[in-house]
Amino acid sequence: MGADIGVTGLAVMGANLARNFARNGYTVALHNRSVARTDSLVNTYGHEGQFVRTESLAELVEALDRPRRVLIMVKAGAPVDAVIEDLVPLLDEGDIIIDAGNSFYEETRRREEALRQKGLHFVGVGVSGGEEGALWGPSIMPGGSRESYQTLGPMLESIAADYHGEPCCAWVGTDGAGHYVKMVHNGIEYADMQVIGEAYDLMRSLAGLEPQEQAGVFREWNSTALASYLIEITSEVLDQEDELTGRPLVDVIVDAAGQKGTGRWTAISGLEVGSPVTTIAESVFARSISSQRSVREVTSQVFEAGINEAVTAEELYASGDARQDFVEDIRKALYASKLVSYAQGFDMLSAAGQEFGWDLNMRTIASLWRAGCIIRADLLDTIMRAYDAPAADQPRNLLLAPEFTEALAECLPSWRRVVAAAATYGVPAPVFSSALAYYDSLRAERLPAALTQGLRDYFGAHTYQRIDKPGTFHIRWSEDRTEAEV
Ligand SMILES: NC(=O)c1ccc[n+]([C@@H]2O[C@H](COP(=O)([O-])OP(=O)(O)OC[C@H]3O[C@@H](n4cnc5c(N)ncnc54)[C@H](OP(=O)(O)O)[C@@H]3O)[C@@H](O)[C@H]2O)c1
Repeated sequence: MGADIGVTGLAVMGANLARNFARNGYTVALHNRSVARTDSLVNTYGHEGQFVRTESLAELVEALDRPRRVLIMVKAGAPVDAVIEDLVPLLDEGDIIIDAGNSFYEETRRREEALRQKGLHFVGVGVSGGEEGALWGPSIMPGGSRESYQTLGPMLESIAADYHGEPCCAWVGTDGAGHYVKMVHNGIEYADMQVIGEAYDLMRSLAGLEPQEQAGVFREWNSTALASYLIEITSEVLDQEDELTGRPLVDVIVDAAGQKGTGRWTAISGLEVGSPVTTIAESVFARSISSQRSVREVTSQVFEAGINEAVTAEELYASGDARQDFVEDIRKALYASKLVSYAQGFDMLSAAGQEFGWDLNMRTIASLWRAGCIIRADLLDTIMRAYDAPAADQPRNLLLAPEFTEALAECLPSWRRVVAAAATYGVPAPVFSSALAYYDSLRAERLPAALTQGLRDYFGAHTYQRIDKPGTFHIRWSEDRTEAEV
């Protein structure tokens, strides 16, 4: 009997996935470019299950049962191609290569096509949950061929997070669909963290709530519709005291956040598939501006703080009932903005499904994010309910699901007050604001795009369409300004 699966790339993520497979009863063949990592895993955790130590890819492949399953967990990008190139000559038709790293979905599409032509299955798998998730149960979003899922699926399901007996793993669609869904998950994660940050900033700047007090607020919020892993850990982080200075930890952390890849990819893909993921894009930009620290050092001195009204703000929000009301307003603004970012994420998935020919099942995707991953939240159950109906009857925008339409209506006055307060007193709240603008754009009967079209026709003869008859029209702007049908 050979090994059930081979794992190559045994840095923290690969090692933890390998241990997870072994703990679940699979025999796992191990390989890493430098043998030291393989030895370290075998020496430290070898007792946890059945491992086969190998020193080369040829040995790894030799150790496997057929069809062979080789999971690659190396640095995303060129290293994945390098490993594939070395693996392919060693494999036979029907074998499966799995890339469980954070690869860009277009690369997954390219690799899948190339390997399909060689008779191999290539499965791009989105894995979320970080190191702990990889070890104890991540959320798993596999793409690739349906056929490959028949042998691979049960293995992935057994190592995935468990949500009340259901594995957080299901085939999502062909070729790059798995990595795409994981990318959108990460985009939503960016927005989730940004709205939490905006809530924190507003509570601190306008209501004078110190981090430790806010830890209590977030703890309470975690038993409302906001209940989620990120809200839960926000209270932990805000509660943490810096050992060195005795100050709140959050006050000694440099206020610059990077944006490594997936958030940026989500925003770019949103533009490409024509889906307005404004909350995700704003979250990426919020990180970009945070990273411009040297510029901010100057601008924060030069630009008037603009909070002459600060005294008023304090009077308004920082004591007694007013503070309580404001905090409740912020909770609702946070919830409404979060709903918008999920709605935008799902809208983008449906646009991408059409663009790339994936038959994405939104209910299934929501179900995969309920445990094991960073955006796990009670809200996902509600989203699943919204997609319970047959495809033809599903809401065209998640916000049209009755439960969400009602929730938004309930949050709306608070949401507007919070965005107005942020603008009035100069506290940046880009996602609260853009989420509200998205909502208002959806509810507007007319948008100023009509004027945009008029301007485009004026300077570039780009033409326009009329609301009252079919056809394409142009005004002879430089002549007699009459309308011509073109
Ligand atoms: N889902 C999540 O929550 C999550 C979290 C973290 C990372 N990831 C993703 O998971 C993947 C692995 O992450 P990681 O942090 O465990 O490892 P990593 O630091 O991204 O990569 C290190 C691993 O890649 C191998 N490697 C690098 N270049 C190689 C090449 N040219 N040929 C062969 N092997 C090569 C290294 O081998 P050597 O030991 O020989 O150098 C090592 O095993 C990445 O795609 C990462 O983005 C996902």
